[in-house]
Amino acid sequence: MNLRKLPPAGTCELSPSILSADFANLASEIAQVTQAGAKMVHLDVMDGHFVPNITLGPVVVKWIRKCTDAFLDTHLMISEPERYAEAFIKAGADLITFHIETVRQPEEFVKTLRGLGAQVGITLNPATEVGTIEKVAPLCDMVLVMTVNPGFGAQAFMEDAAQKCRRVREVVGPNVRIEVDGGIYADTIVKARDYGADTFVAGNAIFGQPDRAAAMNALLTAVRKGKS
Ligand code: DX5
Ligand code: ZN
Repeated sequence: MNLRKLPPAGTCELSPSILSADFANLASEIAQVTQAGAKMVHLDVMDGHFVPNITLGPVVVKWIRKCTDAFLDTHLMISEPERYAEAFIKAGADLITFHIETVRQPEEFVKTLRGLGAQVGITLNPATEVGTIEKVAPLCDMVLVMTVNPGFGAQAFMEDAAQKCRRVREVVGPNVRIEVDGGIYADTIVKARDYGADTFVAGNAIFGQPDRAAAMNALLTAVRKGKS
């Protein structure tokens, strides 16, 4: 269990967010992006408390795990993630990202998550300073920089939030992935890359399009070639 690892830092990766997918047909939705080359799938877990929306719990992750070998990039937007993380890992989450705003002893929680066999991400809201994660970020496999206020797909990219990737890169060095989440399209993915991100969540830009492979190609072409 939990043998899947993030691709080593140094490549640009898309993490398609199923938040914008058809939840009645998740297996086929996920197959479309993995067949188009996605190594990761981004699962947005929302509790109606930390964020004003409710999405999915461990039972859904368990069934997603059965239908794909993709790396499950699991983004917990929930209060008290300490109560639920183990259930998500047992269900098949490969990486647990938690919000710095939700945990009192983040370094301890990272150790707990690793002990349960998962990789670990730390995330911060657009209004949260990079200073809050400076101690814990180097202990993680990934830092997720939110580029929208969490809760909903298809919101507008916040460039000032993306700029925090520069400082995060100074803090974590070259071997920790930096992921951006929210409002990623062919133009904003280039900006995020230029600020130092290498992992790009995209929900509406992929699942909002009829041809998911073409949508992924458009993003990858932009991020590999474009300069902002
Ligand atoms: C927002 C979620 C995102 C969301 C991004 O709270 O964390 O992962 O799915 O959606 P887009 O790419 O549509 O902005
Ligand atoms: Zn997310």
